[in-house]
Amino acid sequence: MSEQKTLLLIGATSDIGHATATAFAKAGWRIHLTARNLEAAERNRADIAVRTSVPVTAEVLNILDTEKLESFVGGLVPLPDAVVCVVGELGDQQRAQTDIAHAARVIRTNFEGPSLLLGILAERFIQRGHGSIVGVSSVAGDRGRGSNYVYGAAKAGFSAFLSGLRNRASASNVQVITIKPGFVRTRMTSGMKLPPLLTAEPDEVGNAILAAVEKSRSGVHYVRKIWRPVMTAICLIPEPVFKKMRL
Ligand SMILES: NC(=O)c1ccc[n+]([C@@H]2O[C@H](COP(=O)([O-])OP(=O)(O)OC[C@H]3O[C@@H](n4cnc5c(N)ncnc54)[C@H](OP(=O)(O)O)[C@@H]3O)[C@@H](O)[C@H]2O)c1
Repeated sequence: MSEQKTLLLIGATSDIGHATATAFAKAGWRIHLTARNLEAAERNRADIAVRTSVPVTAEVLNILDTEKLESFVGGLVPLPDAVVCVVGELGDQQRAQTDIAHAARVIRTNFEGPSLLLGILAERFIQRGHGSIVGVSSVAGDRGRGSNYVYGAAKAGFSAFLSGLRNRASASNVQVITIKPGFVRTRMTSGMKLPPLLTAEPDEVGNAILAAVEKSRSGVHYVRKIWRPVMTAICLIPEPVFKKMRL
């Protein structure tokens, strides 16, 4: 029998994070969760533990405490086989235009924290000789739009970081996977009117991440395939026309 693998899930209180950890647990992976709110993570830990028979543990981690990230990774014994980071914050675009602290938090939460943490883990994985790094980014990073460019720019930075890391890690047995979920029905999008064809459920995202990791598919994954041609078309719209579209 092959040895049980371990998943490190960063952002366990998110709907996508919970669905992802559950998908991996059902596939027999041992799970280690982190969240900034340990009490909420504990509820999700207990839920996964009763629904599957795998060991599930939880630990507190605030991704903005960047000075603690190296010691957090140093404390991971054994080092996980895969890490999935779903941490993010949509924020409020209008507020971010005048409230610099809010804009900074959105940028740090979507870009700085996840990139630094996955970068540290990548070094360990490359040194060890194997592992999968998964970052949940967004189609919002494919082209800046007036309605959410602070979030979009942070996700664009995160996607670029993962792209460069993947390029560098391609000489090793470390997979770097970028997930672009499109719209997902979660707490983040509650109250928004979402087009059904372009909207995934959290389970769909969790299963797509599991499949990408288990099949070692290093690369960029749009969960609903239709998003790739949609975003290609959006990126091809000439700037003078794009400006008038007020997206
Ligand atoms: N829903 C969508 O349509 C959609 C589309 C594209 C991409 N995404 C991305 O998918 C990921 C998951 O989003 P979701 O839809 O599941 O929304 P969510 O439930 O709001 O998830 C966001 C997660 O980030 C955590 N977080 C925020 N700041 C943190 C910090 N400083 N330290 C640690 N954790 C922190 C939140 O923790 P708390 O519970 O403590 O707030 C929560 O677990 C995000 O990266 C999001 O940008 C979502």
